[in-house]
Amino acid sequence: MSDPSPPKPAKRLFIKTYGCQMNVYDSERMADVLRPLGYGVTDAPEDADLVVLNTCHIREKAAEKVYSELGRIKEMRIARQEAGGGRMGVVVAGCVAQAEGEEIMRRAPVVDLVVGPQAYHKLPELIARTSRALGERLSADFAPEAKFDAMPERQADGVTAFLTVQEGCDKFCTFCVVPYTRGGEYSRPTEAIEAEARALAVQGVREVTLLGQNVNAYSGGPDGLAGLARRLAAIPGLDRIRYTTSHPRDMDDALIAAHGELAALMPYLHLPVQSGSDKILRAMNRDHTATAYLKLIERIRAARPDMALSSDFIVGFPGETEADFQASLDLIEEVKFASAFSFKYSRRPGTPASAMPGQVAEEIKEERLARLNALLLRQQKAFNDSQAGRTLDVLFERPGRHPGQILGRSRYLQAVHVDGPEHLIGQIAPVRVTQGNMNSLTGNLVFDSRSSRPQADSAMKESA
Ligand code: SAH
Ligand code: SF4
Ligand code: F3S
Repeated sequence: MSDPSPPKPAKRLFIKTYGCQMNVYDSERMADVLRPLGYGVTDAPEDADLVVLNTCHIREKAAEKVYSELGRIKEMRIARQEAGGGRMGVVVAGCVAQAEGEEIMRRAPVVDLVVGPQAYHKLPELIARTSRALGERLSADFAPEAKFDAMPERQADGVTAFLTVQEGCDKFCTFCVVPYTRGGEYSRPTEAIEAEARALAVQGVREVTLLGQNVNAYSGGPDGLAGLARRLAAIPGLDRIRYTTSHPRDMDDALIAAHGELAALMPYLHLPVQSGSDKILRAMNRDHTATAYLKLIERIRAARPDMALSSDFIVGFPGETEADFQASLDLIEEVKFASAFSFKYSRRPGTPASAMPGQVAEEIKEERLARLNALLLRQQKAFNDSQAGRTLDVLFERPGRHPGQILGRSRYLQAVHVDGPEHLIGQIAPVRVTQGNMNSLTGNLVFDSRSSRPQADSAMKESA
């Protein structure tokens, strides 16, 4: 029997990802889509036949990075050509592509193709076309179902995986570009998500993080995100389910109850509040008060007393006074976060807040950010310190930085490093925490006295 077709020549694909986890997921999916064309992923851009920048538009700094990166890529492309290498294709994808595609084409002639987040399934076709007609671009039509339906089978890479279940946003917070770059809210059907999760579990994935710009507004099946979590928790091998990012408005009773009932639903919740001032929350169009947020936290903790909480904060939103800022600090003192992210307000073109009076001076933003961060870091350290002496189940993900070390995550998403054998990677094993650090925990594997081997996959229950 003769070989029907010789193997395709290997082409190298370099993808650089900016922004949120959804971009990380999208980058993996772009690699999946391009694999049948013979592209294999490389981490050396200078050798790449195709470079994809998957961009983020959320703050000015993130968006501007694209142009400096394109400058570097131009140099690499010239160097490669001079060395007699093949032509390097350059694609800009992601939220900057969606928001300012025209400007990218104008400012950066090195770019062959601009492609928005809803058109990744068309990449093969677009790339084939652009090698003849440079500069062609496709602005995305917001039709996410076409994209998800056309994607090839997912290839897992490791023990944990992101899985987009919901995309887009209808909330229109006045500071935010996401409703413009990702379109309106769309939820994938439960069956499609379940199939993708099963395929991942078969490939050894033990933890999925369900992604959505408003993931708890998920409406692709009965009982919303709680219903989906229940379905996924029944998949053999899938032991841990996380989800991000949630909006306080969509945190419904069913989901809160699920946290008390489903062992697979991890006790860590990223629930951004942005500010502790009602006046600022109103101006942001967040549609809830600080008190409503605190009450919600109370209900969540009643269902799941050990819930670790995380949030995003913006300082220096237009009109924010010292008293408004103080209200954010007060809210943080009240909640006690396990971790959090904070940002200086960044004026985004086309958003309502960018035209509001009372824009806050840069030095004041700097100063408030420093005070807010100091408080949040104290809380993070206190949370990590409080784990010392406890025994926590850890899902081991990869070798650590030092020989003999392995690295995993606790149920509260803390990085945990221990000395231990690599065969534990991909397994859940109990660790006695000896020390909390700023960004991680240190501990020892708990040995089973009968077998003198670490107890992998013991009961899913934590021993407190
Ligand atoms: N959908 C999510 C997060 C979207 S963007 C949510 O609703 O929480 C992630 C974070 O970036 C936001 O929570 C917010 O804190 C921050 N962010 C968004 N726009 C911003 C802007 N213009 N300036 C500063 N931070 C911003
Ligand atoms: Fe942006 Fe608000 Fe939508 Fe989150 S909920 S993506 S902050 S508009
Ligand atoms: Fe950035 Fe787009 Fe995510 S703007 S934060 S990459 S949705």
